[in-house]
Amino acid sequence: MKKTIFVAVIVCFIATSYAFMRDETPKYENLKVLPKNTNKHELDSIMKHFSRALGVKCSHCHVRSTEGKKDFIFASDENKNKLIARSMFKMMNKLNKKYFKEDNEEHKNKGELTPTISCFSCHHGQEHPENTPPAPPDHKG
Ligand code: HEC
Ligand code: HEC
Repeated sequence: MKKTIFVAVIVCFIATSYAFMRDETPKYENLKVLPKNTNKHELDSIMKHFSRALGVKCSHCHVRSTEGKKDFIFASDENKNKLIARSMFKMMNKLNKKYFKEDNEEHKNKGELTPTISCFSCHHGQEHPENTPPAPPDHKG
């Protein structure tokens, strides 16, 4: 009996802290490929992935305000790389859904955020992914 109450208290605690976290979710203004209810933790980790995967800074895809020149206007679509990134994201989703379904389910079951095909799979820290493998070490000519 005691145990049941204890479990119920824990469940209740998790439920309320979860609701509390959701409450803190900022309302991003201009999400077109990510889910509208993406929370700050998820968005930060996705943006870090984008940046590291391409070896760039936030400014590669986001414009700054013309007055301050320091503050980003993250919701703006003025930077063309942001638009390219959106279409890349759609392509990435298609590849994962169509060709790597089971593999992605395994990732999900392990609680991993990053899908099988990620930006890094192709970009490997570069803006422009390479399409030719390096020559073998003993290659002459
Ligand atoms: C490779 C391009 C790229 C890079 C680099 C990038 N972002 Fe983004 N960012 C995007 C795209 C694309 C969206 C819109 C996603 C959508 O439409 O669902 C976005 C959306 C956002 C938003 C939500 C804006 C809103 O209100 O709609 C924030 C905040 C943000 N990025 C912050 C950052 C930060 C901070 C960094 C650097 C750590 C960063 N981004 C790096 C492409 C990028
Ligand atoms: C299947 C491979 C592949 C995947 C996955 C992929 N990309 Fe790309 N990406 C490319 C190729 C190829 C180019 C064109 C490179 C060029 O112009 O030389 C490119 C170009 C880009 C560019 C333009 C680069 C520039 O500076 O001109 C951006 C921005 C970009 N990708 C963002 C992303 C983001 C963000 C993701 C993940 C959501 C992603 N890509 C996933 C292959 C990929």
